[in-house]
Amino acid sequence: MMPFRFRISVPASSANLGPGFDSMGLALGLYIHLDVEDADCYSFFAHGSAEAEENHFIWSIAQRVAKRYGVALPPCTVQETSEIPLARGLGSSASAIVAGIELANQLGNLQLTDAQKLAFGTEVEGHPDNIAPSLFGGLTISTMLEDDIPSIQLNDIELDLIAYIPKVELKTEVARNCLPDTYERNYAARASAMSNLVVAALYKKDYALFGKMLENDLFHEPFRKELIPNFNFIRDKAKELGAFGTALSGAGPTMLSFVPQGSGEKIKEEMLHHLAGYQVKLLEIDTQGVFITR
Ligand code: HSE
Repeated sequence: MMPFRFRISVPASSANLGPGFDSMGLALGLYIHLDVEDADCYSFFAHGSAEAEENHFIWSIAQRVAKRYGVALPPCTVQETSEIPLARGLGSSASAIVAGIELANQLGNLQLTDAQKLAFGTEVEGHPDNIAPSLFGGLTISTMLEDDIPSIQLNDIELDLIAYIPKVELKTEVARNCLPDTYERNYAARASAMSNLVVAALYKKDYALFGKMLENDLFHEPFRKELIPNFNFIRDKAKELGAFGTALSGAGPTMLSFVPQGSGEKIKEEMLHHLAGYQVKLLEIDTQGVFITR
């Protein structure tokens, strides 16, 4: 085997975007990086500490992909570093899954297609809303059919983003357990109409309408907001300062405001004064998804 050395970078993501529950997601400029190099045996260093490779989630995903495609991965050293906070609604687990898929793709020279990567990632995660933006970048709208996962990417979103990341963690499983098992027909029709309008408003770049519909989710936020510190305060204060709208990022507890382009820094500074203990960050939209540097 020829010597090799490469870096895999995978963006974080914010799923749902209000009523786009389990379907919409936006890639963010925070990354997991894997620095990969040929070696005589396997070793995986996560944030500087060596981990048994069989215990490491990313490595276990890579092995599952390799098994699926019938290849053995060559020995290597993998060093993981991450800018993505865990269990905060920023898609860290989906980014890790995409990193594992790409690790197997590169090491096993599998030449996986986008559709194959999306199908595998969605199989592991259960829904495509974080996997698709981490793979493709931009804002993605996806769903699961029996034999396919259609996914559309929108890239020209002219908005600044502000994330409010609290110290507390919230496990997705806990936040999913608060949701109703079923929705009554009229309720579901109204909820999906909100979602249709979010997408149509984005397409037309009517960001005022986008923000309004973002804040009218009926699928998940009404049932989760009690779990989210400062939910109403953050939404109201951001609106007062000029935000178009604020939504839960994924299952929370992070919240994300969409604000007019050029006003992000100023609104972020104002919001920081009101949110002691939070990380308040101006985030970029990632437009390329997972990428390799050699
Ligand atoms: N759509 C998912 C949810 C995202 O809201 O539960 C988090 O996995």
